[in-house]
Amino acid sequence: MKRAIFQKKVAIITGASGGIGAAIAITLAKKGVNLVLTSRNQNQLLKLTEILQKYEINTLAIPTDITQKDQVHQLMEETIKYFGKVDILIANAGQYLKRPILHLKANAIEESMAVNFYGNFHCIHEVLPIMLKQKTGHIIVLSAIDGKKGIPANAAFVASKFALTGFVEVLRQEMKGKNIHISTIFPRRVDTQMIAKHKIPKIHPDKVAKAIIKAIKKKKREILVPYWRLKIFFILNTLSCRLGDRLVRWLNLEGKETGKK
Ligand SMILES: NC(=O)c1ccc[n+]([C@@H]2O[C@H](COP(=O)([O-])OP(=O)(O)OC[C@H]3O[C@@H](n4cnc5c(N)ncnc54)[C@H](OP(=O)(O)O)[C@@H]3O)[C@@H](O)[C@H]2O)c1
Repeated sequence: MKRAIFQKKVAIITGASGGIGAAIAITLAKKGVNLVLTSRNQNQLLKLTEILQKYEINTLAIPTDITQKDQVHQLMEETIKYFGKVDILIANAGQYLKRPILHLKANAIEESMAVNFYGNFHCIHEVLPIMLKQKTGHIIVLSAIDGKKGIPANAAFVASKFALTGFVEVLRQEMKGKNIHISTIFPRRVDTQMIAKHKIPKIHPDKVAKAIIKAIKKKKREILVPYWRLKIFFILNTLSCRLGDRLVRWLNLEGKETGKK
């Protein structure tokens, strides 16, 4: 009965070649969701497609660079040609750069914006007319703790995620009453290739995948992962910016080398 919400649904997952995207793909496949897997790395997508075969779903792997509007358009066209609909878009692809502002060049910020903001913008902008025509759809966007609080050495990432968070807030309100649901996911540090060098506590990508299942089932507007720690963190940061800055240092969100294992 639980699977009925998910079965025969069609979800596009961007950034599916590894990390959180691959974890989401496996979690949705277990629930009977048909998948369109996309990233730039075709080999990784094909490997994941093989892993997903046992779940008896239909899977399409479409290599796409989300910074290229025409490739994103092609992705949507191929999806519609094969499946005839898009129920869920999981805008997960992202890029991370760690560099203090003093050493940050404008082109590094542009690259971050190109993937984390404009890349997601292209995906959302291309899927929206399809969902509006269907009169149903759910768009889930991966932001980060950095999409609500600036963290040192992450300026390029923070700028792009703040831009994305604001954009999605507007989208959510503009879609009210149109049966298009919008969810933003704010994870803390997650154990993936993206921050492999950070020696800080990290959550498992499956926790983020689980949060996405909750977002789909309950049509959640925002989900913090882990919930209570981030809820308290953001409340304290809103009450006092100074306290928020201190918490960033105490929790070592920057991922500085601490000497501890
Ligand atoms: N890891 C964390 O601590 C953390 C915390 C909060 C939020 N997040 C967010 O969660 C999302 C997934 O991150 P992750 O940790 O799973 O990182 P990851 O393992 O590095 O995966 C990033 C994914 O994005 C894809 N990608 C990057 N640039 C792309 C482009 N131009 N076009 C298409 N795909 C592109 C990569 O695939 P290809 O290289 O094959 O293209 C890869 O599949 C990101 O949006 C990230 O900001 C991560």
